[in-house]
Amino acid sequence: MVDDGSEPNQSSLSCARCSKPAHLQCPKCVLLKLPREGASFCSQECFKESWSSHKSVHMKANASSLGTGAAGDKNSEGWLYCLKKGQARTSKLPNFDWTGSLRPYPISSKRTVPAHIELPDWAMDGIPKIEPESSLQHVVEIKTPEQIERMRETCKIAREVLDAAARIIRPGITTDEIDRVVHEATIAAGAYPSPLNYHFFPKSCCTSVNEVICHGIPDARVLEDGDIVNVDVTVYYKGVHGDLNETYFVGNVDEESQKLVKCTYECLEKAISIVKPGMRFREVGEVISRHATRSSMSVVKSYCGHGIGELFHCAPNIPHYERNKTVGVMKAGQTFTIEPMINAGVWRDRMWPDGWTAVTADGKRSAQFEHTLLVTETGVENLTARLPTSPNVFPWLNV
Ligand code: MF3
Ligand code: CO
Ligand code: CO
Repeated sequence: MVDDGSEPNQSSLSCARCSKPAHLQCPKCVLLKLPREGASFCSQECFKESWSSHKSVHMKANASSLGTGAAGDKNSEGWLYCLKKGQARTSKLPNFDWTGSLRPYPISSKRTVPAHIELPDWAMDGIPKIEPESSLQHVVEIKTPEQIERMRETCKIAREVLDAAARIIRPGITTDEIDRVVHEATIAAGAYPSPLNYHFFPKSCCTSVNEVICHGIPDARVLEDGDIVNVDVTVYYKGVHGDLNETYFVGNVDEESQKLVKCTYECLEKAISIVKPGMRFREVGEVISRHATRSSMSVVKSYCGHGIGELFHCAPNIPHYERNKTVGVMKAGQTFTIEPMINAGVWRDRMWPDGWTAVTADGKRSAQFEHTLLVTETGVENLTARLPTSPNVFPWLNV
C-alpha cells in the first residue's frame, strides 16, 4: 500500500469501504495514475476486503494504457521508486547525478508464487542463508552426474523463459511487462524466479536498458524504438539454478549499438570456446578483453561470472577483464557462468540510489550476454544454449 503521508485524521479522502478517513492508496491505482477517489483505504483490512470488487478498475485502465505510451508521462507525482535494498520506496525521483538519459520509473507490487513451487531460502525474508556460509564460496564443486542432469533440466527451462521474454520485446512495452512474462513462464514451468527477493531484489528478472550495465529493475518505463535491453533470467528448479541473459534490439537501433551488441555476443562465444579441463579461469578475461579492445570497447570490472548449482552465486569468481588475478584451472564437472558486460565508452560503473542498477559512468551504452556452462572431459557443454525453437533475434545468426 502507498501511504500518502497525511495524518489519518487530516486526510480529505474517505475509505472506499467504510468511509473513515483514508490515507492509504491502492498501489496499482497509483501506478496507473488513477483517481484517488474510490482507491483510498483506511487500513490494509479494508483494502483486502475490497480487493475482489476494486481490482476491476485496473483492468480497463491497463487495457487502455498498454501500447499507448500513457505510462511515459513524465510527471512523477505519486509514483513509486525502489530506493534501497529492503527499504521502503519513495514517491519522489531521488536526487542523483544521472550519467545518461535513463531514469527509474515506478515498480509494480510484488508478484506472488503459488504454494507448490519449491522456494530458495531467501524467498520469504530476502536473506540468503546457506549461500554466504557455504564452503562452496571457496572451493569449486565438481558436480555428480545426478546434479548435472538437474542442471540440464533447469537451464533448459531458463532458456525457454528467456525466449518467451525475447518474443515480446518491441517498442511500447514496459520492462515490467517483460518481468510479468518471465514470472509467469517460470511458474508455469514449475520453477521459482531466483532474483525475486534475492537480497531484497523486488522483481523476477533483471532488465537493463541502454546505459544500464546490469541488475536493472523492471519498471513502468516503456521501451522506445532504438533502445537496447538486456533480459537476465535465473530459475530455480529441482534444487538448482540456471542463469542466462541476452541483449535485444528494440525496433531500429543505431549502427554503433548494433556493433556493441554483436561484439559482446562474440566476446562470450570466444570465451566459451576456450573452456576445457586444464584451462586457467583467468584466460577467460584475456580472450574477452582482447576482442572488446580490438573494437575499441571496454570491459566492466565490477561484475563477474560465477559458479552456480544448488547455490545461485558461488566459486569460482570469473572476471571478464585482462590481467585479472583469479587462480585455478577448470575441471570436468564444474558449472559456472560467463557473462561479459561490454561498454561503448569507459569501463567504469556507477550505482543508482536503488542499490541495484549499475550504469556506465559516462552514460554510454552497455551490452551483456550470459550462459551457464558445464566443463566436460573434452571441453564444454553450454547448458543454456539456444534451442531450435529460440526466436530469430540476432541478424548475425542468419547466414
Ligand atoms: N542473474 C544475475 C547474474 O547473472 C544475478 C541477478 S541477482 C538479482 O548473476 F538479484 F539482481 F536479481
Ligand atoms: Co550470472
Ligand atoms: Co544472470
